[in-house]
Amino acid sequence: MWGMIATWRMAYEGILAAKEQLEINGTCGDAVETSIRWVEDYPFYKSVGYGGLPNERGIVEMDAAFMDGNTFKIGAVAGIVDITNPISVARKLSEERFNSFRVGEGATEYAMLAGFERKNMLTDRAKKIWEKRLREMARTNISPYDGHDTVGVISLDMHQEMAAGTSSSGLFMKKHGRVGDSPLAGSGFYVDSQIGGAVATGLGEDLMKGCLSYEIVRLMGEGLEVQQACDRAVYPFNDLLKQRAGKVGAFSLVAMDKDGNWGAATNVEFTFSVATANEQPAIYLANPGPNHTTIIQPITQEWLDAYEKRIQAPV
Ligand code: GLY
Repeated sequence: MWGMIATWRMAYEGILAAKEQLEINGTCGDAVETSIRWVEDYPFYKSVGYGGLPNERGIVEMDAAFMDGNTFKIGAVAGIVDITNPISVARKLSEERFNSFRVGEGATEYAMLAGFERKNMLTDRAKKIWEKRLREMARTNISPYDGHDTVGVISLDMHQEMAAGTSSSGLFMKKHGRVGDSPLAGSGFYVDSQIGGAVATGLGEDLMKGCLSYEIVRLMGEGLEVQQACDRAVYPFNDLLKQRAGKVGAFSLVAMDKDGNWGAATNVEFTFSVATANEQPAIYLANPGPNHTTIIQPITQEWLDAYEKRIQAPV
């Protein structure tokens, strides 16, 4: 058995590329890295890698993480700049016994010294969107903050080994040095090859309050089916946060167990991508359902066409 699940429609092409590897006995680690690099390299995805939206200073500061579900090795970077593929840096850091989570200048310096490709990650398009937002902020009192769609991937290979990875340019217009959930183990991602894995996307400030990726894996470890674990972790926490803090940001999680079964839970409309040895690659639409359940439907062509238009629309 092999399988992959990833947050958002944007992960689909990356999953197609990584699927080719898994089908010929490739490793789960390579599949995670291949799929996320695809998203990082695509300039029209404005929340990850090249083309990602910048912070308030106009700088694209990126967060990423990689986790090996066999050894629990984790590598992560936060606030890294001018490096083409943060996921690859995170994966390399996962091999380090010490100093495996680097931030800011330390992360960028590590990547440069290790020979990772450098690039100004701010595209003209992302710069235009940033300038437009600055103008809007000067004119109105709109919240500067939106757009933080992390790509998170879980992969299972034919050796029954699992890995997880995340990559994000974080919250659009974030303060310099702000870090989200994506590089934080337990919040943005978690994987145990003997149980399964989960990854998150959404408002990092809220996701990290619930350590939701870890919670899903923990519940699977206690014997819950993957979809039950997603529902049980996400919806009661959503209610609790609303009750205690008065408001909850958008968040969504996907999970896969060690046998390639998958699930998702979300408090907003959300898309995700899946491929397994038993199922054709597909994109699904998830919505919160009644009584702490999730409604999952195949995506429609109409939705996909509108999405394609939206991401490439002139600024
Ligand atoms: N989930 C990504 C972030 O909040 O930065």
